[in-house]
Amino acid sequence: MTEVKDYIRTIPDFPHEGILFRDVTTLFASPRGFRMAIDQLLHPYSGMRFDKVVGLEARGFILGGAVAHQLSAGFVPIRKKGKLPAATIGQAYQLEYGEAEVEIHDDAIEPGEKILLVDDLLATGGTAEAGVKLIEKLGGEVIGCAFIVDLPDLGGRAKLESLDMDVHALCVYEGL
Ligand code: PRP
Ligand code: MG
Repeated sequence: MTEVKDYIRTIPDFPHEGILFRDVTTLFASPRGFRMAIDQLLHPYSGMRFDKVVGLEARGFILGGAVAHQLSAGFVPIRKKGKLPAATIGQAYQLEYGEAEVEIHDDAIEPGEKILLVDDLLATGGTAEAGVKLIEKLGGEVIGCAFIVDLPDLGGRAKLESLDMDVHALCVYEGL
C-alpha cells in the first residue's frame, strides 16, 4: 500500500551540500498522493469548525487552498515581506543565516476566529512560529498546525508545542 511518504522525493545536497531536501512536488503531482495528503491533513480535525485556513508561502498555499475548500473555510496567505498589497503587520524570524520577515493583511482575521495553520514542512519552526504570532496578534485562535513533513531533530515541533500548539504531521524524518 503506497503511503504519502512514498510520493515524497529526496534530493541530496540541495540547496547546500549535506542537506537532504524533501521535495513534495512529486506528492502534489500525483492525483492519488495529493488527495491522500489533503485527506490525512484533515483527519484530526474531523467534525471541527474553522473560520480560516492560513497558508505559509509558498508551498503552504497549495495545501491551504485545498484544505480550506474541504473545511468550507476561508483562506488567508502569509507572505514574504513586501508581497501583500494592503496594510499588513509583519513578524521577523531567524534563518540559518540572517533574518527573514513574513506578513499578513491586518484585516485578514477577526478576533476570536478559529484558525488552522498549514505548511508543507516543519524544520526549525521559525516560519510557523512567526505565522502563529501574526495570527495571534490579530486575535485569531490557532486550533492546529498541520504539515506534510516534520523534521523533529531541527526542533520545530518542540518549539510549537512549547507555545501550546497542537502539531499534526504526516511524515516524520528522523536525523538531519
Ligand atoms: C521552507 C518550508 C517551510 C519552512 C520550514 O520554506 O516550505 O515553509 O522552510 O523551515 P523552518 O521550520 O525552519 O522555518 P522556505 O522558507 O524555503 O520558502 P518557500 O516555501 O517559499 O519555498
Ligand atoms: Mg515554505
